Amino acid sequence: MKTLPFWAVVPAAGIGSRMRADRPKQYLQLAGRTILEHSLHCLLDHPGLQGLVVSLATDDPYWPDLACSKDSRIQRADGGRERADSVLNALLRLEALGAAAGDWVLVHDAARPNLARSDLDRLLDELADDPVGGLLAVPARDTLKRVGADGRVVETVDRSLIWQAYTPQMFRLGPLRAALAGALAAGATVTDEASAMEWAGQSPRLVEGRSDNLKVTRPEDLQWLAQRWHDQGRD
Ligand code: C5P
Repeated sequence: MKTLPFWAVVPAAGIGSRMRADRPKQYLQLAGRTILEHSLHCLLDHPGLQGLVVSLATDDPYWPDLACSKDSRIQRADGGRERADSVLNALLRLEALGAAAGDWVLVHDAARPNLARSDLDRLLDELADDPVGGLLAVPARDTLKRVGADGRVVETVDRSLIWQAYTPQMFRLGPLRAALAGALAAGATVTDEASAMEWAGQSPRLVEGRSDNLKVTRPEDLQWLAQRWHDQGRD
């Protein structure tokens, strides 16, 4: 199988307040390395990677201490107010590095350290010829409720139509840049790259991924992953 070339963006300028930790969650330790390093290595280990931009808070004191801050394949961009601003800055940096408008870009959360190589390969393989691009996603498994302001159930939602959006999300550089810039200028709510593409009138494709590619959000997520990796002998 031919290796599809791609660029990568890892927005890592968030604070992650739900972790209630003394530092941004991407700098918490998991099996001897930071969460961010694990997330980066999921991409760095792939032979199709052309280069990677990580968006960091301008006053980030932790990054220079990481070994991968010296990796020549990684460039940094300034983080912005929202995730979409951080990703847009990284895309501009990629353009400056020589990436073309038609090149594929994979955007992956800094706090998703458990991306399986098989999921990454399936995403690249299934979307290689797609006109729009898409994302890893997982079908909802629980019964879902819509809630009113009083905290009581308004209705049960048809879960067969609901998927959780994961990362990486894979789009072509030019259309993604235009969609993010347009959505931000219009004040639209953009919580992932796909929602910017949707705002631009596109329909991203969902590629079913593993549910253990979780975004570390709460303390119990980190405990769960640490235990899992320990059981697998990964630490
Ligand atoms: O907060 P949440 O977990 O949804 O953030 C998703 C990703 O976006 C994280 O990797 C976070 O570091 C990043 N982010 C960013 N710039 C912001 C906010 C979030 O790079 N202003």
